[in-house]
Amino acid sequence: MTYNFLDTLSTPAVKAAQTANGSGEFWSGFHGNRTFDRFTENEIAFIAERDSFYMASVSESGWPYVQHRGGPPGFLRVLDDRTLAFADYRGNRQYISTGNLTADDRVALFLMDYPHRARLKVLAHAQIKDLTADHDLEAKLATPGYKAKPERAVMLHLEAFDWNCPQHITPRFTEAELAPALAPIRDRINELEAENKVLREHLAGAQMPTT
Ligand SMILES: Cc1cc2nc3c(=O)[nH]c(=O)nc-3n(C[C@H](O)[C@H](O)[C@H](O)COP(=O)(O)O)c2cc1C
Repeated sequence: MTYNFLDTLSTPAVKAAQTANGSGEFWSGFHGNRTFDRFTENEIAFIAERDSFYMASVSESGWPYVQHRGGPPGFLRVLDDRTLAFADYRGNRQYISTGNLTADDRVALFLMDYPHRARLKVLAHAQIKDLTADHDLEAKLATPGYKAKPERAVMLHLEAFDWNCPQHITPRFTEAELAPALAPIRDRINELEAENKVLREHLAGAQMPTT
């Protein structure tokens, strides 16, 4: 397999849809130039900066289920070039993803970088780990100072990944990303407000009625 992300997802129905829509020949002959089954420095750096991702799991009834996972930047750790792991924090205690993973370990992740208009798609097999029984893993996933309670670890064994193009991604920025750009503007506003105050006081003094 030379392009195993596509190979993994090209079911007969998908191939039929490609053929019906005129792209069957293109994709059946597409071999790509990477294997997409090991993270390179590029993906590792990208994952290290993410503070959230979306994770789709498969329910026993066949319904796909997407949930959000978030934490401090880099909370989704790259353990090696085929393995990711994250501490699964306590939430609403529905445990839908957790339950799904015990019946079917397949997940699809969506990692977004809105400022750079980039997204990474990952297919993986998930493995739930008891954090209290694995202190080495617990230490690797620790995020000192972060208030959420880790309930378990989820290891993700890479099947394949692929990058999407930037089309239709609107750049969005977090408060932290905006802070450096806004700091000079805030400083300038403070300066102008101080100057304005002095001028108002000066004006009020100049308009005092004389007797
Ligand atoms: C107090 C609290 C309430 C939450 N309520 C919701 C909710 O109503 N709907 C939702 O989708 N996620 C909610 N979340 C986030 C989920 O609980 C969180 O994403 C969790 O990891 C989902 O786990 P699961 O995918 O295994 O069900 C809440 C989180 C907290 C801490």
